[in-house]
Amino acid sequence: MLYRAHLLNPCSPTRLEEIPDALMEVNAAGCITAVGAFEELAPRLGNQPMEDLRPLWILPGMVDLHVHLPQHEAVAMDGLELLPWLETFIFPAEARFADTSVARASAARFFQGLLYRGTTTASIYATVHAEATDAAFHEADRCGIRAILGKVMMDQHSPAALQESTAESLAQSEALCQTWHGRSQGRLQYAFTPRFAPTCSSELMRGAGLMAEKYGAYIQTHLSENLAELAWVKALFPEAANYTDVYQRMHMLGPRTLLAHGIHLDAGERQVIRESGATIVHCPRSNAFLQSGIMPLRRYLGEGLSVGLGTDVGAGPSLSMWAEAAAVCTTSKLRWAERQNLAHHLRAMGGLEASQRAEIMAQLDLNPLTPVDPVQAFHLATLGGARALGLDSRIGSLEVGKDADFVVVDPRMVDPAVDRPAEPPERVLSRMLYREHPGMVRATYVRGARCFAAT
Ligand code: GUN
Ligand code: ZN
Repeated sequence: MLYRAHLLNPCSPTRLEEIPDALMEVNAAGCITAVGAFEELAPRLGNQPMEDLRPLWILPGMVDLHVHLPQHEAVAMDGLELLPWLETFIFPAEARFADTSVARASAARFFQGLLYRGTTTASIYATVHAEATDAAFHEADRCGIRAILGKVMMDQHSPAALQESTAESLAQSEALCQTWHGRSQGRLQYAFTPRFAPTCSSELMRGAGLMAEKYGAYIQTHLSENLAELAWVKALFPEAANYTDVYQRMHMLGPRTLLAHGIHLDAGERQVIRESGATIVHCPRSNAFLQSGIMPLRRYLGEGLSVGLGTDVGAGPSLSMWAEAAAVCTTSKLRWAERQNLAHHLRAMGGLEASQRAEIMAQLDLNPLTPVDPVQAFHLATLGGARALGLDSRIGSLEVGKDADFVVVDPRMVDPAVDRPAEPPERVLSRMLYREHPGMVRATYVRGARCFAAT
């Protein structure tokens, strides 16, 4: 099958590739077999069925590295920080998934929601319920999305309706992994999912780490999101040097580990994470919503940490990775501006010793803090996420040899001007992120199969 459209690829954190009149050939297995300028490729490939999508654009599908399926219907519950928010809104919503028919219907809507927003790959938390998780896998299989999914594990400090025994949690997780990991030619994968240190015993976390290694599966959890959470972890695990060290001791850190949030990490923790190859999943809208803070993204990227992006629905308000990428830029700019402003006030302030002033200025860490721009945010949402999953040879950009995971987008839907003359792709991309509109995504393909089409 051939697709003719305006093509946009993330090449690197600083560079886009644009082919205004592109042709992409996809074989029966859903693999990209040719991609390039129409006039160059058409003479060689011309006599096959072709979908002429012009003036629409094609881009690689979005990669959401952190999202909670059962929280989709509990979004935007405002007013609380992490721990009381979990108790008040989230745990009751997750408890409803004890009823597998609720879980199945909810999963169908959730996956449709992801595809509708142009997400082709997602790393997903289900609930503690094995049947609900199994139902979610069936729905993911049926709708065609690429999913990394896991049953949440929690065996302590949890509400009675969600708390499991350690043995039951490990056994059910292993059974689900054996059933689903690698299914549908690798489109479905398993992630062991110990929720976060406070709700997991050491035995549970150690077991999850061992099993992830045994099966070559992923492991996903939350790390260092909120100051009250940090204090709780410190009280529960006094033998650990810090929050990261809890996971390190349980053998949970490796290249297939996804750590959501990671806002409050000291230099030693960052070094441990970098050396392990684990990924920090940046969730800027969630971090704002729960008043957790602004993760120092620029600093982490500068230090060579692996970073991806996640919507973290339901603390994040929607499944849109376009809006999440825009929030990467917005929060990065706010962090930058606030630090510049603080430095400005500090310079004008009397009564400080020079050494104190220098110390505070050093803490503000002004030098590398130029804000992240849409090109870099788009890279994080696509190829960067794919790389974090170790899947960048398969997905993340539209290149020969990769799977045809792509979205068809109409940039006119987000442009208040009509008949705008051609302009640099960075500008079009910037509008797609900042002005994202659900109707902008016209179709979503995974491995060459159309999983969503706007009517
Ligand atoms: N930490 C532990 N569980 C959760 C969750 O469901 N959402 C967020 N944002 N943080 C968590
Ligand atoms: Zn989360």
